[in-house]
Amino acid sequence: MPLRPKIAVVGAGNVGQSAALFIAEKELGDVVLVDIVPDMPRGKALDILEGAPVGHFDADVRGESDMGAVSGADIVIITAGSARKPGMTRDDLLEVNVKVVKSIAENIKKHAPESFVVVVTNPLDVMAWVTKEVTGFDRRRVVGMAGVLDGSRFSAFIAEELGVSVKDVSAMVMGGHGDSMVPIVSCASVSGIPITELLPKQKIEKLIERTRFAGGEIVKLLGTGSAYVSPAASAVMMAEAYLKDQRRIVAASAYLEGKYGISGIYLGVPVKLSGAGVERIIEIKLTDGEREMLNASADAVREEIKKVKL
Ligand SMILES: NC(=O)c1ccc[n+]([C@@H]2O[C@H](COP(=O)([O-])OP(=O)(O)OC[C@H]3O[C@@H](n4cnc5c(N)ncnc54)[C@H](O)[C@@H]3O)[C@@H](O)[C@H]2O)c1
Repeated sequence: MPLRPKIAVVGAGNVGQSAALFIAEKELGDVVLVDIVPDMPRGKALDILEGAPVGHFDADVRGESDMGAVSGADIVIITAGSARKPGMTRDDLLEVNVKVVKSIAENIKKHAPESFVVVVTNPLDVMAWVTKEVTGFDRRRVVGMAGVLDGSRFSAFIAEELGVSVKDVSAMVMGGHGDSMVPIVSCASVSGIPITELLPKQKIEKLIERTRFAGGEIVKLLGTGSAYVSPAASAVMMAEAYLKDQRRIVAASAYLEGKYGISGIYLGVPVKLSGAGVERIIEIKLTDGEREMLNASADAVREEIKKVKL
């Protein structure tokens, strides 16, 4: 990895600009923020650069409106496309965002053939699949960001409910990034103490329900657009794991070839994220109920993929 890796963030909207800011603040590398809208990405990049002396970070951040700017990128984070409006599900974004992600994936294949790609655009699991299909990259080099965010949301709610530090809470959410997501209660703990020992069943059910609809809760409150700070932080965490070969175990949307009895689609599962990308998919024991939910989630993703014409 070069001393100053090149990180391309495609889509200079809410998630994209926040991701660029977090990357620069963490000094993970130099950032190019790319958007089809002319000038706007340059403005957003300049805004970050002009805060660098105050924020005390060294990073080159520039904005471009031509996809050729991803040339030679070590990592590409795809955040381009429409976001949800109140009343919309993530799946309502399918048609418009397939076109966007397809054209971006073609450019990544052409200009950044060695890159590791983190997909953020919704509907997430389908967009990750489109990216892999179009780039033809190995499954280890295309990953979707959802589980890190959903797990973070579940953790935040557990910490709030118990009145404990978020630093001590660990939680995992598997399945598709939609209403069919599968929070795994057996993997939720506070400093290793299972939450089932700390919270009654009904309370846990309430937190699961809130996690499942956490994105929608924010969409409703914002009135326009969807969550972007926590999604950007989650995508950057995954990029950092790759760049620094951190070997983190997180839930992410990964291409399945038989694990959990599922093949040919992207779905949220525990993975080992390292300098090799999605180095390994970890198969954990699920309860009958969790397995049923995971299969239903896989069916939902499969149905969406059927609608895609590449
Ligand atoms: N995976 C997750 O957990 C998660 C979380 C939050 C948001 N999202 C998704 O991320 C996407 C971006 O959300 P946002 O809030 O930043 O939206 P946004 O509307 O603020 O920004 C999207 C940007 O993409 C740009 N764009 C559109 N087509 C493009 C193309 N072909 N090339 C380059 N840029 C292009 C637009 O001009 C716009 O600036 C949405 O699809 C949203 O649903 C996913």
